[in-house]
Amino acid sequence: MLSRSTSLCLLTVALGAAALPAPRATPNLGLSFTSKFNTKGTQKFDLARADRARIEAMAHTGHAIKSGNHKRASAYSVDATNAAVVYTTTITIGSEGEQYSVLVDTGSSNTWAGSAKPYTRTSTTNCSSGIFTEVDYGSGLFFGEVCTDTVALSPQMAVHNMSVGYGLVTEGFDEVDGLLGIGPKILTWGTVDGMTDYIPTIIDELAAQGTIPSDMFSIYFQPTTTMSLKNGELTIGGVDSAKCESAVTYVPLTTTTPAAYYWGIDAALTYNNSAVLEKTAGIVDTGTTLTYIASNAFAKYQNATGATLDSTTGLLSITPDRYENLLGLDIVIGGQNFKLTPNAQVWPRALNAEIGGSDDSLYLIVNDIGTLVGSGLDFILGYTFLERYYSVFDETNQRMGFASTTQTNAVVN
Ligand SMILES: *[C@@H]1O[C@H](CO)[C@@H](O)[C@H](O)[C@H]1NC(C)=O
Ligand SMILES: *[C@@H]1O[C@H](CO)[C@@H](O)[C@H](O)[C@H]1NC(C)=O
Ligand SMILES: *[C@@H]1O[C@H](CO)[C@@H](O)[C@H](O)[C@H]1NC(C)=O
Ligand SMILES: *[C@@H]1O[C@H](CO)[C@@H](O)[C@H](O)[C@H]1NC(C)=O
Repeated sequence: MLSRSTSLCLLTVALGAAALPAPRATPNLGLSFTSKFNTKGTQKFDLARADRARIEAMAHTGHAIKSGNHKRASAYSVDATNAAVVYTTTITIGSEGEQYSVLVDTGSSNTWAGSAKPYTRTSTTNCSSGIFTEVDYGSGLFFGEVCTDTVALSPQMAVHNMSVGYGLVTEGFDEVDGLLGIGPKILTWGTVDGMTDYIPTIIDELAAQGTIPSDMFSIYFQPTTTMSLKNGELTIGGVDSAKCESAVTYVPLTTTTPAAYYWGIDAALTYNNSAVLEKTAGIVDTGTTLTYIASNAFAKYQNATGATLDSTTGLLSITPDRYENLLGLDIVIGGQNFKLTPNAQVWPRALNAEIGGSDDSLYLIVNDIGTLVGSGLDFILGYTFLERYYSVFDETNQRMGFASTTQTNAVVN
């Protein structure tokens, strides 16, 4: 199951099925999912710190993969528990319809169950591989057996014999039953003892068996002014064009590492017709809240906007006068400008208190990534970008796509 030959086998099944009228899920089937800011039960939500811990973990994982460090430094594993925004959805595992509430993570790619609720073995559960896996997430732990089982996102979207971790010992995942990783499958490299290949994600498997027309998913968010959000839509296998107000602009995935191990692209940033960041590699990440740019680019942005760093929140704050003069931040991707309007550059005022800020202050969502331009990961377009633009994560064509939505120019913050 863990080998490339299994993928080929599934592909053969798909090709065989293509000759027959194969049952197919509607390409644009949207799964709604619940997302919330990951406060981890702390009083004040230290947003910038949570984001930065995740960024560091992603950079370290990328460098470990790049250097061929097969046994990855486990503390550097990235997962949804160190994401500042977390998403949960319900999946079914096994033959008895047993449901599990799982974290959905685009920054890691393993799937497992058995934390808040034990993983129930059924007739489709096969745990005879004799292989164990241990993933130390820093803020949590997963230790379990590598099994195969039937995993379904919906009745039409089931994968048989999918690799699933059977949790024997888990810590730090008390509020969910497991984790569903939908990052690039290269992130599974080195996560299982003795395995030198990749474990396909459920999206990869659904595409390989022909259930969905393409190995891709798309995400739509609306801006939020509350800590718990029920406004996301995850579309498996296609694009929900009803959510797009423009054509989708596609760009190839970047080849620059470590950005290339995630959903990475090349982009340039301009403010007031002056380059903030020349075209460089970065990533799109649903689990990062703010929008991060390399330290020297951040200094330019800060200077151009006249904002000051607020030590309490770790965010830039801007006076009402300067906010009046704030211009759009141009994010140029594939020759197209995905502008963040002044309002889109502001943290939702209704959530100021949640991040330790004062109610009447204006905070900006552009922040410092902590390394200089040229690190191979010079920007992160996080949730605050994705709530303004529809995003497409296309593994088949090795590209990402973006489109404007009704939220692109909305004045909400
Ligand atoms: C269970 O998985 C092992 C490989 O881990 C495989 O050899 C065996 O055939 C599988 N058993 C069934 C009943 O599918
Ligand atoms: C799962 O794999 C086993 C062999 O490991 C095979 O016998 C069985 O048919 C597979 N099940 C499905 C539904 O593909
Ligand atoms: C921006 O930088 C220039 C010099 O590089 C300085 O003169 C100016 O005061 C700065 N502006 C702000 C708002 O910090
Ligand atoms: C834009 O840049 C020009 C020239 O560098 C400057 O005169 C102007 O004040 C800037 N506008 C804003 C709104 O910052």
